Amino acid sequence: MIPVIMSGGSGTRLWPLSRKNKPKQFIALFGENTMFQETLNRLSGLEGIQSPIVVCNNDHRFMVAEQLQELRITSANIILEPVGRNTAPALATSALEAQKMGDDPVLLVLAADHVIDDLTAFHQAIEAAKIQAEQGKIVTFGIVPTSPNTGYGYIQADQKNTISPVKAFVEKPDLQTATQYADSGNFYWNSGMFMFKASTLICELEKYSPEILSSCREALAKGTKDLDFTRLDVASFEACDSDSIDYAVMEHTSKAVVVPLDAAWSDVGSWSSLWECAQQDADNNVLQGDVIVEDVQNAYIHSEHRLVSVIGLDDIVVVETADAVMVASKKSAQNVKSIVNRLVNED
Ligand code: GDD
Ligand code: MG
Repeated sequence: MIPVIMSGGSGTRLWPLSRKNKPKQFIALFGENTMFQETLNRLSGLEGIQSPIVVCNNDHRFMVAEQLQELRITSANIILEPVGRNTAPALATSALEAQKMGDDPVLLVLAADHVIDDLTAFHQAIEAAKIQAEQGKIVTFGIVPTSPNTGYGYIQADQKNTISPVKAFVEKPDLQTATQYADSGNFYWNSGMFMFKASTLICELEKYSPEILSSCREALAKGTKDLDFTRLDVASFEACDSDSIDYAVMEHTSKAVVVPLDAAWSDVGSWSSLWECAQQDADNNVLQGDVIVEDVQNAYIHSEHRLVSVIGLDDIVVVETADAVMVASKKSAQNVKSIVNRLVNED
């Protein structure tokens, strides 16, 4: 089984900590290791794990190589994207690369920015998924929804609480639809992790996204290799359509099955989810760095360089870095994306 670590996201919802030159997956948000490193560490103890494929932006190649080295991972295939084209091309190139290794390997696709606390449950789900993937299925890992979160894909299962064929997959529905799904008891959240044989994905891409597949074939054929790096050809990859695997394949395929996953999973997609995942004190605050508070509750406050003090405010996010400070109400903190867009456009 080859782990494929999707590491090319921009992580803008965690600005100002997550930056273009160092997105959130490469930062140690919890403890010593970065989220990228934790993703790889989480695989230890599983049998039959081969060298990983890492797909990331070309700008991050040294950071990735260094972080792999710190884990003493001496062999990897690091696919370098000249530009981000979302997860469908990232997985198309990974599957094409994996096929070159012969034996049509099973790929375990992981996002580089998740938190999973129950390793035993995670490993059990992977073992169960492997049997399905070997039979030509595309395996999704379903999380029981706890809110109508519109940032997730929704999976309708034929049967609940067991491995089941997927009836429907709906990526990021609107709030009304997400509320219906979350209340119905028949839907899971898509965790964003997948498992399939390389040939299964290639076959589904051929059916539902042939242009992406052919651009990726060309980007690899015209690309170059040096050491662990697989450099995609710039012009071919730039010409590739941008799409996520969820829209490009998962919404269409009839080969999907869902393995329920109850492993304290979290996608650290926003400041409020980071607050939820981190260790909170008696006032439900997460205070990191040099922070002093008075009459503050349910807050996430992170300081990198200066003393940050907050008085009499609840449900807030404060993040201080060398060149930017962000203060937001927790419920609006995900709108940080629009600030980042303004910064990019005004650059
Ligand atoms: N290599 C590469 N290139 N990786 C990418 C790119 C890219 O262009 N874009 C995103 N990624 C990586 C991210 O770093 C992350 O690890 C993973 O792919 C998923 O991308 P996100 O951008 O975080 O996706 P999402 O959170 O909006 O949605 C996905 O995950 C949800 C669960 O967290 C979907 O699969 C949803 O259906 C799912 O519910
Ligand atoms: Mg995500």
